[in-house]
Amino acid sequence: MTTISISQFKDYEGQTVRVGAWIANKRSSGKIAFLQLRDGSGFAQAVVVKADVAEELFALAKGVTQETSVWVTGTVKSDGGRTPLGFELEVTAMEVIAESVDYPITPKEHGTEFLMDNRHLWLRSRRQHAIMKVRNELIRATYEFYNQEGFVKIDPPIITSSAPEGTTELFETDYFGQPAYLSQTGQLYMEAAAMALGKVFSFGPTFRAEKSKTRRHLIEFWMIEPEMAFFDHDMSLELQERYVSYIAKSALENCRNELELLGRDLSKLEKVQAPFPRVRYTDAIKFLKDEGFDDIEYGDDFGAPHETAIANAHDLPVFITHWPKDIKPFYMKVDPENPELVLCADLIAPEGYGEIIGGSQREDDYDRLKEEIIKEGLDETDAYDWYLELRKYGSVPHSGFGLGLERTVAWISGIEHIREAIPFPRLLNRIHP
Ligand code: 4AD
Ligand code: MG
Repeated sequence: MTTISISQFKDYEGQTVRVGAWIANKRSSGKIAFLQLRDGSGFAQAVVVKADVAEELFALAKGVTQETSVWVTGTVKSDGGRTPLGFELEVTAMEVIAESVDYPITPKEHGTEFLMDNRHLWLRSRRQHAIMKVRNELIRATYEFYNQEGFVKIDPPIITSSAPEGTTELFETDYFGQPAYLSQTGQLYMEAAAMALGKVFSFGPTFRAEKSKTRRHLIEFWMIEPEMAFFDHDMSLELQERYVSYIAKSALENCRNELELLGRDLSKLEKVQAPFPRVRYTDAIKFLKDEGFDDIEYGDDFGAPHETAIANAHDLPVFITHWPKDIKPFYMKVDPENPELVLCADLIAPEGYGEIIGGSQREDDYDRLKEEIIKEGLDETDAYDWYLELRKYGSVPHSGFGLGLERTVAWISGIEHIREAIPFPRLLNRIHP
């Protein structure tokens, strides 16, 4: 007997196979039992017809409880296109591996807190399965894209001695008697790596002790951080729009069933093609004022309602460029045409999903960077000495950016809250399970 997974049904039509699965759901009458099987690779219906099987088998199928694990043997049959899978299993034998008693997540509605408390089980649901498949696809497509573009994957450290995105959101830890921090960004290390390998990207966890309890903020999130030597700001923006278009297209191609299950409006994703509109910060402020926002002034960062208003004026992701230097980190390169501004951009996703990328050209002049480090009071330790030194030995123009994976998963999947975009979310009020 060949043991296969549900995703392989299409290659086994008419054949008798064995599948290891869980009972996701069940429906039965006096004559027939429909078992909803799931095995991780997919979901499929198994049919047990009373008239065709032994009495014990029909009784077992009728009585089997939700999430019981089973070995099921049966014949793969076309379901006439009733489901996206296209096939079902006509059961000839079934054996319980382990029973499941009083599974807490029933097919009825549950509240969010209850589901979050049961995240370890909630992950098994169809919807969560679909979101994790989309997440996986975005990661896969990211590696594919950067490989095609000639990038080298580099892993920056997680435990660091510096705080490039500001000191208020740090997780401090004890490093053998010396203070150390969980990484907020791998950027500074990626800059060093770019000077060694040219075009590099990282993918790893980052940590921010942000006191924000919003549907866009996680305490622990995953970031993709490309860094490119000999790239100016415009070259970086072109790479960003090609990258975001590429992963959106990959999700459409390879996760169509999952996106449909999630109820995603696919036409909105189909529009995501480079180039993306570019709006200067100053013009964005003007636009917001014209839209009636009187809670924002030149020099303010945008809040969620501002980002959403800007996004709603476009079908595509939008770059907000040329921000005031005062509200951006010390490492950004000053605009040669206006010393008040920096060469940076935030990319705002459509439909109110907020900022998915932050990036900039980096200050590559030794003296100017040193001045910024002193101004920020970051010269008191030697944490930035090595970073400054990158500007001492053949400094080159370079740029980079960070894409927040979970915000991107939320946008592509069309889900309301970022907590569903990561397997085990770390939130302001939650570290369990
Ligand atoms: O804009 P940020 O802070 O940029 C940096 O950290 C740069 N050093 C990256 C670089 O240039 N290499 O963060 C980048 C992205 C944001 O655009 C957002 O998508 C995501 O990371 N992000 C968060 N996602 C979830 N929860 C949070 N608390 C996030 N903070 C940032
Ligand atoms: Mg940002």
